[in-house]
Amino acid sequence: MKTYLITGGAGFIGANFVKYLLATYPHLRIVVLDLLTYAGNLKTIENDLRSERCEFVRGDIGDRALADQLFRDHDFQYVVNFAAESHVDRSIDHPQLFLLTNILGTQNLLDAARRAWTKGTDYRGYPLWKDGVRFHQVSTDEVYGSLGAEGYFTETTPLDPRSPYSASKTSADLFVKAYAETYKMPVSITRCSNNYGPYHFPEKLIPLMITRVLEGKPLPVYGEGTNVRDWLYVEDHCKAIDAVLHRGKSGEIYNVGGHNEKQNIEIVELILQTIRRILTEQPAYRKVLKRREYDRAGNLRLDWMNRDLITFVQDRLGHDQRYAIDPSKITRELGWTPQTCFEDGIVKTIYWYLDNQEWVDDILSGDYRRES
Ligand SMILES: NC(=O)c1ccc[n+]([C@@H]2O[C@H](COP(=O)([O-])OP(=O)(O)OC[C@H]3O[C@@H](n4cnc5c(N)ncnc54)[C@H](O)[C@@H]3O)[C@@H](O)[C@H]2O)c1
Repeated sequence: MKTYLITGGAGFIGANFVKYLLATYPHLRIVVLDLLTYAGNLKTIENDLRSERCEFVRGDIGDRALADQLFRDHDFQYVVNFAAESHVDRSIDHPQLFLLTNILGTQNLLDAARRAWTKGTDYRGYPLWKDGVRFHQVSTDEVYGSLGAEGYFTETTPLDPRSPYSASKTSADLFVKAYAETYKMPVSITRCSNNYGPYHFPEKLIPLMITRVLEGKPLPVYGEGTNVRDWLYVEDHCKAIDAVLHRGKSGEIYNVGGHNEKQNIEIVELILQTIRRILTEQPAYRKVLKRREYDRAGNLRLDWMNRDLITFVQDRLGHDQRYAIDPSKITRELGWTPQTCFEDGIVKTIYWYLDNQEWVDDILSGDYRRES
């Protein structure tokens, strides 16, 4: 039975990947390594941890002794490194933490894997690697910088990170590539556009807006809301990582994108309209509304749920204007294409948040941290 080390598996994409693997492959084992920072939530994977095939270790990817111990205790075939500080705004306020986790943490994992997976050297002095192992780095399209109105990022677009977050992710990618060149380490990298879907921490655009609409609070939008991001449903991202891990060429980089370019303001408006439509058509969902105002007849009012909630706030420092991914390499070589269009994915996501308000409330109240 193959064993996967999934770092950051209590975070948004990592947890979705754990669920995806357990549901897709009956014969594998998973060890989740996660520090449970503010972004990690054990509740997200509590059902998965009931399986004998999934185990949780709380710890830092930068902890050398712990990483070595894990490799001694388990015969890992794959490492999939999701663990990261992932929020651009936080990187602007506290850049150094991003270097520690995203760069040094990744390098520590690479080293632990190298110590565990190599035995002896070939005649040129390169390490001899255990068969079938792979270190997979989950990276981001933000390493390419910002685009104007035209063009797409390909795997050969020059790296041009512009925020402390993207600079740290770029550095991590370069270390992964350096280990592939220097030690012939079997690695792969995926660079993905913005993900959305279930279990997304409510500080990020889509869950933040859903949460604030339900609270009836102002919806803060940076600048004029014209920044463009390419959105990918998280399950499609999980499938892409699976394809690269098992069928992608060692040493290669694959861009993963959703063909779903949207301006931030379009997304906010769509979320407003969709929630209002759902609450109008399916009154049972009105119980999740936190802003509760009634008309004279005693009916819950929804008329305040409109564009007036949008407030434009001072733009993020160095805000990248547009990201857009060209995923034709992964489509051509591995047959992967995104299966969920944005119009369906956003509705599924909104329903998930409406159905899982307890998960959100736990985060908003801070309870998720007290229990872990
Ligand atoms: N969310 C996106 O849209 C997106 C897009 C492209 C790439 N990515 C990349 O995908 C990965 C996962 O992103 P996400 O949105 O799920 O992030 P997230 O912030 O939701 O989760 C990160 C997880 O890593 C854990 N973690 C943080 N520091 C750690 C450390 N030192 N040791 C162990 N665990 C630690 C946290 O507790 C959390 O569970 C990241 O590497 C991110 O850069 C994310």
